[in-house]
Amino acid sequence: MELMSSYLISLLLFSFLVLSPRAFAAEVTDTLGKGQNVTDGETLVSAGGSFTLGFFSPGVAAKRYLGIWFTLSEDVVCWVANSERPLSDSYGALVISAMGSLLLLDSSGQVVWSSNTTGIGSTSVQLLESGNLVVSDESGGAAMWQSFDHLSNTQLPGTKIGKNLWTGADWQLTSWRSANDPSAGNFRYMTDAEGVPQNILLDGDQVKYRTGPWNGLWFSGVTEMATYSDMFTYLLTSTPSEVTYGYVAKPGAPFSHVLLTDDGVFRHLVWDHSSRKWKVFFQGPRDICDHYGKCRAFGMCNANAPLASFCSCIKGFSPTSPLLWKIGDTSKGCRRNLMLDCGNGASTTDGFVVMEGVKLPDTHNASVDPSITLEECNTRLMVATLVYSWFVAVTAEAQHPQFPAPLVIGASIASLVVVLLVLLSGTGDALDRSTIREATRNFSEANVIGEGGYSVVYRGQLRDGTMVAVKRLKKFYLTDKGKEDFSREVGVMSTLRHVNLAKLLYYCREEDEWILVYELMENRSLNLYIFGEENGFRSSLNWAQRLEIIGGVAVGVEFLHSKGVIHRDLNPGNILVSDTWHPKITDFATMKLFIDEKTNPALVLMPGYLAPEYSGEWALTYKCDVYSFGVVLLEIVSGRKRTDTPTLLLQAWELWDQRRIRELLDPEVAEPEGDLLSRLVRCIQIGLLCVQRLPEDRPTVTEVVELLTNTSSQLLTPQRPTQLFSIDTPGLSRTIRSDQHLPRGSQ
Ligand SMILES: *[C@@H]1O[C@H](CO)[C@@H](O)[C@H](O)[C@H]1NC(C)=O
Ligand SMILES: *[C@@H]1O[C@H](CO)[C@@H](O)[C@H](O)[C@H]1NC(C)=O
Ligand SMILES: *[C@@H]1O[C@H](CO)[C@@H](O)[C@H](O)[C@H]1NC(C)=O
Ligand SMILES: *[C@@H]1O[C@H](CO)[C@@H](O)[C@H](O)[C@H]1NC(C)=O
Ligand SMILES: *[C@@H]1O[C@H](CO)[C@@H](O)[C@H](O)[C@H]1NC(C)=O
Ligand SMILES: *[C@@H]1O[C@H](CO)[C@@H](O)[C@H](O)[C@H]1NC(C)=O
Repeated sequence: MELMSSYLISLLLFSFLVLSPRAFAAEVTDTLGKGQNVTDGETLVSAGGSFTLGFFSPGVAAKRYLGIWFTLSEDVVCWVANSERPLSDSYGALVISAMGSLLLLDSSGQVVWSSNTTGIGSTSVQLLESGNLVVSDESGGAAMWQSFDHLSNTQLPGTKIGKNLWTGADWQLTSWRSANDPSAGNFRYMTDAEGVPQNILLDGDQVKYRTGPWNGLWFSGVTEMATYSDMFTYLLTSTPSEVTYGYVAKPGAPFSHVLLTDDGVFRHLVWDHSSRKWKVFFQGPRDICDHYGKCRAFGMCNANAPLASFCSCIKGFSPTSPLLWKIGDTSKGCRRNLMLDCGNGASTTDGFVVMEGVKLPDTHNASVDPSITLEECNTRLMVATLVYSWFVAVTAEAQHPQFPAPLVIGASIASLVVVLLVLLSGTGDALDRSTIREATRNFSEANVIGEGGYSVVYRGQLRDGTMVAVKRLKKFYLTDKGKEDFSREVGVMSTLRHVNLAKLLYYCREEDEWILVYELMENRSLNLYIFGEENGFRSSLNWAQRLEIIGGVAVGVEFLHSKGVIHRDLNPGNILVSDTWHPKITDFATMKLFIDEKTNPALVLMPGYLAPEYSGEWALTYKCDVYSFGVVLLEIVSGRKRTDTPTLLLQAWELWDQRRIRELLDPEVAEPEGDLLSRLVRCIQIGLLCVQRLPEDRPTVTEVVELLTNTSSQLLTPQRPTQLFSIDTPGLSRTIRSDQHLPRGSQ
């Protein structure tokens, strides 16, 4: 009886499956046969369940695309059929045409996308466990079309990028236009078939990044690849018929893919089962030095070097334009100090040097002769140098290197120095970290001089005696986003050099240590001198010096604005004073550096200095800095802190309006003499213009600088301030140590 019933059930089940292939197919099949279709809501799932094909909307729900994604991570869409032609409703269908083409039809039956294949027998389509969608002709069994030949922004194990030189087939990753738009963006990642093969990342037609040439196991500029060789085998094929790059996952390796992001970074990502997240194993560009030709011809880039000198010239070379180089413009590159004597005669001083830890120069125009020895190479190079007068030396990220022999590049130190580039993974980070540990006595509590929401600032002393302020990011902020912002900002800051800005000296970046090292201002910050309780602090800063400081701050802000940077948190605690009373703005660009305003509601800024339109509506413009500057100016002349004197602006305006300026001036400072008083009156008027309620009524900072320096320039009359400052503005408070003298927390 029991046997009978289970037999019956099996039979029933069986007939159900046979009779309702759709119900079954929609759930678990990996195959689409002739006469069948996949409609919106239905999927094909590969046999092992790894990949799913179906309809999706990356952003706007109204746009539907057909794609293949990782089943356990639906957001990673590896392939998109109709990336350029989204469907506008959910009535699309994937079908096999009578001619054997795989077609995507819209609701009116129009072909939106086609595999363009024609079959003789009956065609079938299968989603393989590798993520490859294959159209094959059942009569021959051969694949007529496969998605692995039509890459989107993702490379999976088993796919290749590069070129088939015989058929002309060209495989490359193309970035999405944006996270919500799979249509072709500006970036492409491919294997460069010219010269010694390497992968390159293009922005339009411009090379933005290159991996460095293949060394037999990995790309020489992506040493991280070696770390994961237990999971992956990387394959570079360079034959007369094809030049391609791909990788294969070893048995047991987790899911992985290479993604070209919509902002132009390629990332090798691996699925971490425990956290159920993708982890970046390596990426390019990795740091500032990875940007193509960063230091130009004969320049060498060191991401761990003091910021002023990311770029240096290789031995025997000097900046082509020392003047530009000094201000951080390395675009002219370096040039040879002495001409090569080209091995002329026996007494040549030309020779070779070995360079370690660098990426090989661009091999786009290079060719390799793997058979010769170093000595032969030397000889050949000497001859080559004599024959080709254009022959030039190159270095790590030289822009237009040309060289005739493998791994050997001409250079000179009063000689022909041939640079043999040895590829090592050297980074100075570990050293930097231990140096910083030592400098701050292992981040001792006693060395803490400031703390903000995202970082702690320590006083430190380097071995050579230099005093530094060490700003260490808190661990919780070490998210991918935080790290990206850090790197981007280090790039920006390397170009921000000005006498009125605090100088970033070094940075250190390791797994869990992200650190910025600034010059330390022993004399600490301006708030000490304008509000200071301590004996003599206020009187030590006379009127002439105060006017100088105000001018210096304006010039510093003007510089920031000219570079497109809004400081956003200007206040006397962020203005350091050098021992010669020069103001140095710090914490500049931290907004860009650490905070994404829109996504981080935890943003806290110093109350009292925020422009009303910013604290109210988060409308951030350059005029917000002008407002903050105005408040700082009025504080400097009055010695009154706006947080303690909420009516400061009104007081200042009334006393100015009634010509009672002396009552506004800080009584701790000796009375102004000579023309100082009239300069102060003018200065206060400028300050009042800066704090006008409407941004359009405030001058630009460039105008402020002009108004401060040219006493005959015309001044407008400021209106009476209407808005009183309220300390209780929600979310706008923060603790700050009054004695802190440097890059305060990274708000
Ligand atoms: C998809 O297949 C179903 C069942 O065979 C059929 O009713 C439907 O008309 C097909 N849709 C398209 C667009 O071919
Ligand atoms: C099929 O052919 C059309 C027209 O030539 C072309 O636009 C389309 O890109 C082709 N589709 C594929 C998948 O190659
Ligand atoms: C390769 O050579 C061509 C032709 O001389 C030149 O235009 C190009 O800039 C060179 N490319 C590189 C990367 O050196
Ligand atoms: C520094 O501190 C870390 C933990 O904070 C500790 O593991 C290490 O031993 C310390 N090193 C020295 C030299 O004190
Ligand atoms: C700065 O500090 C140095 C050393 O402490 C001191 O000699 C100098 O007077 C100070 N300068 C200012 C502007 O406070
Ligand atoms: C100062 O301002 C006046 C009035 O706007 C102008 O005529 C003069 O050229 C300016 N002087 C300088 C040195 O810019």
